[in-house]
Amino acid sequence: MAQYVAAEKLRIEDWVKGLAAIPESAFTLESVQDYVIRHAVEPETLEQYCFFSKGNYTRNLVFRNDLFECMTLCWDIGQHSRIHNHRGQNCWMSAPVGRLRIQNYRVDDRDASQGTCHIVPTELYDLDAAHPTYVNPMEPVHEVMNLREFHQRAVSIHIYSKPFDTCEVYYRDKGAYADVPLFFTSEYGKLNPSEKLL
Ligand code: SIN
Repeated sequence: MAQYVAAEKLRIEDWVKGLAAIPESAFTLESVQDYVIRHAVEPETLEQYCFFSKGNYTRNLVFRNDLFECMTLCWDIGQHSRIHNHRGQNCWMSAPVGRLRIQNYRVDDRDASQGTCHIVPTELYDLDAAHPTYVNPMEPVHEVMNLREFHQRAVSIHIYSKPFDTCEVYYRDKGAYADVPLFFTSEYGKLNPSEKLL
């Protein structure tokens, strides 16, 4: 995946409007990546969509329609995602704040009747403001890590098309995988009432 410096910085609201103006027929891996490369988000405008929790990274919905959803993920130092896929949907990621490491995995010996497989680490790369990326549809299983050695919090923006609310999580030690539901910490700038941010 190529490396870029984005040209124009926009407020998150304008950035999302631009994204929503892309017609469904043109909402391809390449054209959305091109949009993300050419338009960066001003980090200061993300404030209302940023919540940090000691327990886990947080997921904060910014926008959703039938075609795509856009969210911030807020990563405290040392936090990481589970090893997961995106249900066959496209995913574009950028990190206006901080830096994140992405580890991709290949899945071998998948047995859907048993929910078992072996996962093997493959590509490893970093995501930051100058290096937006997308999930490789040929190898969609990955993990996102805000490594302690980066010494800073990170905020990433994820676009998923189409929206989804479950993903497959892979348990490397057990050689197993399973469906898990996904939740938002906040939606449209409002913390979910059940959320304690512990
Ligand atoms: C998530 O949406 O919670 C997972 C983040 C990712 O790795 O794309």
